[in-house]
Parts: sequence; structure tokens; C-alpha cells
Amino acid sequence: MELRTIDTIKDLSGKTVLLRIDCDVDIENGRILDDTRLDVALPTIEFLLKKGADINIVGHLGRPKTTDNGQLTTDNSKFTLVPIAHWFAKKFKVQSSKYKVGKFEAWKITDRINLIENIRFFKGEEDNPSSASGRAFARDLALLGDVYVNDAFAVSHRAHASIVGVTKFLPSYAGLHLKKEVHELSKILNNPPPGQRPSGAAKRPLAVLIGGAKIETKLPLVSKMHAIADYVLVGGEIAEQTRVLIKVQHEKIKEPKSAVLVADLREDGFDITPKSIENFKQILGLAGTIVWNGPVGLIRPPIQNSKFKIQNSEDTERGTRELAQFIVRTSAYKVVGGGDTLAYLRRIDLLSKFDFVSMGGGAMLEFLSGHKLPALKTLEK
Ligand code: 3PG
Repeated sequence: MELRTIDTIKDLSGKTVLLRIDCDVDIENGRILDDTRLDVALPTIEFLLKKGADINIVGHLGRPKTTDNGQLTTDNSKFTLVPIAHWFAKKFKVQSSKYKVGKFEAWKITDRINLIENIRFFKGEEDNPSSASGRAFARDLALLGDVYVNDAFAVSHRAHASIVGVTKFLPSYAGLHLKKEVHELSKILNNPPPGQRPSGAAKRPLAVLIGGAKIETKLPLVSKMHAIADYVLVGGEIAEQTRVLIKVQHEKIKEPKSAVLVADLREDGFDITPKSIENFKQILGLAGTIVWNGPVGLIRPPIQNSKFKIQNSEDTERGTRELAQFIVRTSAYKVVGGGDTLAYLRRIDLLSKFDFVSMGGGAMLEFLSGHKLPALKTLEK
């Protein structure tokens, strides 16, 4: 897949770039727990500044409640980009200040960089392209730049206004991080058409380990992976809630198809059982390539007063940790992606042991399943 990338742009002086990044990072009490997704956008920002551009950065955090006018309400206040504005201010050694860019709440980071408040506060963001109001929102957003750059691989499977909608109104390019993700992931699996086995460089057998909680995003991806991988291993909340559906979907797939193993969860539901950990290890030990997205159990303590109580207060991270430790010791080519998984691996100091680290969770799986991501379609040469 050949993309139009920013390194082909000669000069941007006097122009403003509307830059989409992925700032969907883990935040606890206003503190960013893992800033990898922000770090990867810096080379593109520096590149654009060198070419003479001013930059309006746009991004989202979490899945907030939306309103028509993007208001910060008590319902969505924990999704404000205040911590992200502080992070950028620290990087550029400045004080950020509240600002307005067009009708959008924002922060002035430097004289040449603004950060727009969480774009998912606006209903129009996710309504694109299915409704006229979504498309109108994309047009309004496009007024914030002369050129659009997408450096948000992790959101490239969404056809939202700031990802796809704006490209109808502005000359559009892939940023350096997006370019790298596509290059590396294409190398691994040669991006086969849907339903076809990849003929790329992936060493077989290919084992795909999927966990985490975004069930509506991941379930269709588990199903797509049956046709591509040799083994599909499912743990975490998705295993618990969709066990039967996964089996039914697997039966419907024509040969050749993967073997599928859905983990059992221990009684309190917070981790997979020791037996499932062992079964997963046996399969992962056979793999030539391992692709991993999503923890298989709870990787941080439940919020106090949560309606869930840990019955067996024993370590809920055991499954995720043991599998991580096992995977890094295998000789397989190891690829990992997704915000929570990366943050956890960094915390236990194993992230650097992977051959490729993708910022995308759902986006990575979707890309590897051979589906052309909506964002990439708009940037193709
Ligand atoms: C992610 O965290 O994987 C991306 O930011 C996409 O988030 P979404 O699943 O809420 O669209």
C-alpha cells in the first residue's frame, strides 16, 4: 500500500497543518501513565515545524459522552485533554494557555502549535460519514488547516470526521509514524485481501493472542483472524462474554482456518485460569510469529467501591505477566499493539523485547486481517 506521505512535501511556510494524532493514553488522577502514543507523534511535529508550518493538533481521549456543541460537561470532564496540553507544554518547555481556534476550545502550546480539546466531545466526530451533521462537522474542522496530516494509526480503523471526513476538504498526507506502522505491518503479513491467508514474511505458524475489553471492536476481528492465523487465542473479558459466539463464528469459516482456544476465567472473573495460561504457553511455543493485543486479565487494581469484588485477591495480572514473560523468551517474531498492553509491558520492562510495537490495538488487528482501513484509503497514492 503506497501512501501520500509528508516527506514528499517541500515547503509549508505560511500554511497551517491540521494534524490528527492519537492521544488516547492511560490517565490516572490527571497523571499520564504511559506517554508512548504521544512520543511517536513528535518526529512529525518537528518535521512540520521545520517545513515552516503552524500546527493545530487534534486528538481524542477515551469514549466520552458527546454533545452537539462539544461542551465540557461533568459527564465528560475526565476525558479533557488538559493532561495532554501539560505534556506538550513540558516537552516544549513552555506554559500552555487556554485559547480558541475557530469555534473550538484549545490550548496555545507555543506560538506555532495549538492543541484542540477532545474532538470526541462533539457528536459530529463519530457521526461522520453517516449523517449530514457529521459531514458538516468535518467541513468545519477542515477550516482549521490548509493541509491535513494523519499520524494516528491507532484510530485509522474509524471513519470519523477528524480521520476521514476532513480529507474530502484538504490536501491530505500520512505522517511519519503512520507511514512506519503501515510499512512494518505490511512487511509482516503482506496485507492479504479479506479471507485470504497472507503470503508475506510472517514465519508460520502464526499465533494471534487477543484479550482486553473492547468487545464490539474485537469480536469481528477474532472472527477475521480465524481465516488468517494458524492459532487464535482469546483471553480477558472478551473470552468470558463471547465464548459461544466465537465458537459459532469459527465453525462458519471455511478451511483453511485457525485452531481457536478460548481461555477459562477463574471464579472472580479477573484473570484466566492457571490451566489456560499453560495451554496458551504450549501453543505460543509452537509459533513462528506472535501477534498480541489486549491483556488477558485485569492489569490494574479495580477502583475502590467498584461493584466488582476480587474474591481471590491473588494477583490478577498473573496471566498477562506470565504470557508476556513466556512470549519474549520464544524465538518467534513478536508484534504487540494497543494502549493498555503497551503500558503494561512497559511497566514490567518487557516492551523493548518485542520486534515491532504498534500503537494500534483494534487498528493493528484490522490492518493485519487484510481490511483496508478507512483512513488509509483516503491517503493512498
Ligand atoms: C485505541 O485506543 O485503540 C484508539 O485510540 C481507538 O479508540 P476507540 O476504540 O475508542 O476508537
